[in-house]
Amino acid sequence: MNLPIDFIDVTKELLGEEWDSFYHALKDLSPTSIRYNNKVEEFEQNQEKVAWCEKGFYLSKRPSFTFDPLFHAGVYYVQEASSMFLEQAVKQFVKTPVVALDLCAAPGGKSTHLIDLLPKNSILISNEINRQRAFVLSENIQKWGNTNCIVTNTSPADFERYQGMFDFILVDAPCSGEGMFRKDPNSITEWSLKNVENCVSRQRDILSKIWGTLKEEGILVYSTCTYNRHENEENVQWLKDTFSAEVLTIKCDSQWNVTQNEYGCRFLPHRTKGEGFFVSVLQKKTSENPVKLKPLNSYKIKNIELLNCLKSSDSFSLLSHQDILYAVPQAMESLVQNLLKNNTVLHAGVVLAQQKGKDFIPQTGLALSKSVDLSKVNSCNVDKETAVRFLQKENILINSSEGFVLISYQNVPLGWVKNLGNRCNNLYPKEWRIRNKQVF
Ligand SMILES: C[S@@+](CC[C@H](N)C(=O)[O-])C[C@H]1O[C@@H](n2cnc3c(N)ncnc32)[C@H](O)[C@@H]1O
Repeated sequence: MNLPIDFIDVTKELLGEEWDSFYHALKDLSPTSIRYNNKVEEFEQNQEKVAWCEKGFYLSKRPSFTFDPLFHAGVYYVQEASSMFLEQAVKQFVKTPVVALDLCAAPGGKSTHLIDLLPKNSILISNEINRQRAFVLSENIQKWGNTNCIVTNTSPADFERYQGMFDFILVDAPCSGEGMFRKDPNSITEWSLKNVENCVSRQRDILSKIWGTLKEEGILVYSTCTYNRHENEENVQWLKDTFSAEVLTIKCDSQWNVTQNEYGCRFLPHRTKGEGFFVSVLQKKTSENPVKLKPLNSYKIKNIELLNCLKSSDSFSLLSHQDILYAVPQAMESLVQNLLKNNTVLHAGVVLAQQKGKDFIPQTGLALSKSVDLSKVNSCNVDKETAVRFLQKENILINSSEGFVLISYQNVPLGWVKNLGNRCNNLYPKEWRIRNKQVF
């Protein structure tokens, strides 16, 4: 591994005697780990557990996730183990329902985790500035299948109008990526002291735009996947100095081998099985006048039959945006309407249907939602080969009644076909399809 000399100098200074062990660990293979959703009741228990994450497991080797239909169904998320430490920050400091913002969220590792960690009746806005990455985020959120999430594609500055609105904010900041050197060797070539400096100024810009949107006593989790002090401790100190933020201490089990100081927790690959990561939890101590959202009515539309496919369907409101119909939990309605008006919403609640003339075409988000009532839809469970061909958006033949049929694998929904008897129209989104044409 050809490391930049300046990186070696800075990191040797940070790690002291631990440098040699750290350097050797960088030559090891990056461990593969996954975090389970609750779409299946039992998952394999003989895998090694990630100590700080209830549903996190290491895999002994990296399988082909692409050809596993359960991966596409959102049964698990492939996530680097150190990042799963977010669980400790949330479990220890968030005890009551919150309105939360994950500001830099794509591709969605931490958002899908947050959805599971936040107390019941919380709402999560999961945002990504980069449009292409925001679509991937929206796909991953829909696959995870919860109804309490909104995906937006906008810049931190666009949230400034929501002063004092969030009880919880995660800023998983764009960074110089030192912690990814082992997993992604390209990040080594992009590293320079100048780039670290640029990252620091971008991180402070993001933090200063978003700090005002945090409620008094609200929690902001700041994280990076880099080691250096400039992007970590120095930014936390800057938050303390600039906004009188208070750092909260995350309780760690000594067996986890986390390196902790007064600013936060650092994950080092020679100490913990995972990549580099830094996380700090801050609390707002200054007062804030929270913005009051005005209820809007303009997007309401009438009931449609597909809404009845949802469990507790009367707890949802229907909203229409462009030609897409969303079923949104009522508690989220005015927030979604405001975001629709002011920001770019890519997803909200359950993406129910697309309106084509007087027809409503069920959307994959509905199939993947944990709220879909399987007793109310026609479904067909297929074998692995057919499931992969469905996900490749190939034509499949099924033995089922005509009309819209939900395709599932191992009883976990994947998406819809329209069965015409002698053939099926495959309704899987072409952007989500498995592009690799390898025959299973
Ligand atoms: C470390 S990644 C986020 C990873 C994500 N939280 C996860 O767990 O899957 C940082 C994200 O910040 C976004 N980003 C880059 N510049 C930004 C900016 N100026 N403001 C907000 N987000 C930015 C990047 O596009 C990237 O998706």
